[in-house]
Amino acid sequence: MEERQIIQQTADHVRSLLSGEGTGHDWFHIERVRHTALAMAREEAADLFVVELAALLHDVADWKFAGGDHEAGPRQARQWLQALNVSPATIDHVASIIASLSFKGAGVPTLMATLEGQCVQDADRLDALGAIGIARAFAYGGQKGQGLYDPDHPPTPHDSFEAYKKGSSSTINHFYEKLLLLQDRMNTATGKRLAAARHQVMQWYLEQFFAEWKGTR
Ligand code: ADP
Ligand code: NI
Repeated sequence: MEERQIIQQTADHVRSLLSGEGTGHDWFHIERVRHTALAMAREEAADLFVVELAALLHDVADWKFAGGDHEAGPRQARQWLQALNVSPATIDHVASIIASLSFKGAGVPTLMATLEGQCVQDADRLDALGAIGIARAFAYGGQKGQGLYDPDHPPTPHDSFEAYKKGSSSTINHFYEKLLLLQDRMNTATGKRLAAARHQVMQWYLEQFFAEWKGTR
């Protein structure tokens, strides 16, 4: 099968799985990540086929929704690509990108070995920042039944993936436990530039949030 057909079939498969998903991991998230990751990959001269497949498949079985199973994401991507007769080297590369993509806590490094993985990781992280990032965080928090903000529970800088997985006590805490840390973890030049701008949007938002909480603005 031609690369173009493999991409098309994969996109159709993922769209049918994630359309209407309610935590900000829906098909539109995938489309934004796909688009941003490809733009970065062109700039960085990365392998576009690997980047597009990894972007499309990266959230198909995220551990957050697969009962905490970290192997489910890479495993399902592997099975899907094997059924389409994609080369073993490409399958290994895509599965390893998906396995190392996620943020795992403030004190846990998340190194991405290849340029292709770095593009997908930056694109995924950019979608957790800025105006869309704020919207996604509250959508996720709402679906998990977590409060907006709780002044009695300060944020925790998680130093293990186990601790991070237990989740935030509030969505505002998630800003301090993850979102505001992402700008310093970007891989590509474009990623760094866009992350800095989106970071400022979130800082402005938090300032306004706390001012409104106190009733001063
Ligand atoms: P990652 O690959 O790093 O897990 P995803 O692309 O799967 O990132 O999506 C993470 C999204 O879910 C982000 O927009 C993030 O804000 C949101 N999210 C994850 N955990 C929480 C949480 N505890 N509270 C609020 N939002 C969360
Ligand atoms: Ni994602």
